[in-house]
Amino acid sequence: MVKVLILFYSTYTHIFKLAEAIAEGVSMVENAQVTLKRVPETLPKEVLEKMGALDAQKAMEHIPIASYDELPQYDAIIFGTPTRFGTMASQMKTFLDATGQIWTNGELIGKVGSFFTSSATQHGGQEVTALNSMIPLLHHGMIYAGVPFIPELMTIDQIEGGSCYGSGTIAGGAGERMLSAAEKEIAKAHGKHVTSIAKKIVEYSPLKMETKSEQVVLSTTSEQPIAKPTSNSTNNTVVSTSTAATTTVEPSKQAPVQEKSSTNTTNAKEQSAVKQEQKKESSCCLIL
Ligand SMILES: Cc1cc2nc3c(=O)[nH]c(=O)nc-3n(C[C@H](O)[C@H](O)[C@H](O)COP(=O)(O)O)c2cc1C
Repeated sequence: MVKVLILFYSTYTHIFKLAEAIAEGVSMVENAQVTLKRVPETLPKEVLEKMGALDAQKAMEHIPIASYDELPQYDAIIFGTPTRFGTMASQMKTFLDATGQIWTNGELIGKVGSFFTSSATQHGGQEVTALNSMIPLLHHGMIYAGVPFIPELMTIDQIEGGSCYGSGTIAGGAGERMLSAAEKEIAKAHGKHVTSIAKKIVEYSPLKMETKSEQVVLSTTSEQPIAKPTSNSTNNTVVSTSTAATTTVEPSKQAPVQEKSSTNTTNAKEQSAVKQEQKKESSCCLIL
């Protein structure tokens, strides 16, 4: 089972409609479970009223509000907000700014992240919004997935939102335009693509993300020695079949540890320096 959260903010429902289309794409992947949630509104009701957004807000009332601490339970999170001056809406930024503890614990490391947006106009900043919205996801250690260039993304005979950085829709200056057929296809491809990648990660069962240096262990039986890289390895990962489970280690990080222990270093100062170095290197590394 691969669990995908589509987490969005929408004032006038364009992003909500896009989220539903992305959800359709997620559901096209076997064994995928999709959840739609909103981030909390931060604008006062009077402001929303002046913006003419109250009816639209009612139409989304049935979508539950997400809490920060539930994020780690998903394998992929697809974030979406309207473009606001070429960047994500502050409602989403506020939500993300509350995820410091999750970041500290590295709880989103290795999960798939993506972003979708809408704008009033064709050149209103969708691509730049998707690009700059990637940044917090990368800080979280997420693996960013966009949208492959399906035919609908190559169209030049009509205006359309979306790009390879993430799906999108054009709302019109007064919000009069709704998701086009091409935008819907791009959104579905987006959901399907993100989910397929997350599924591969989930299904590759030996893969484990360890984020605290104290927890950095190889997923092998305890009595097995740590695999040492072979000298003829050409890339920076080595696959060893010397243990019950296939084990992959990063030689550049693993070898010095082996060296130190095999020469029986007794100098406490040196050992402490090695430990410090290991700690630096192992926080956030991918351990198989
Ligand atoms: C404060 C504010 C800033 C906006 N900035 C942009 C912008 O930079 N480019 C653009 O094309 N549209 C901009 N818009 C229009 C919104 O992107 C548009 O209303 C939204 O995409 C509709 O999506 P929604 O129905 O999900 O709220 C802005 C709207 C507001 C209220």
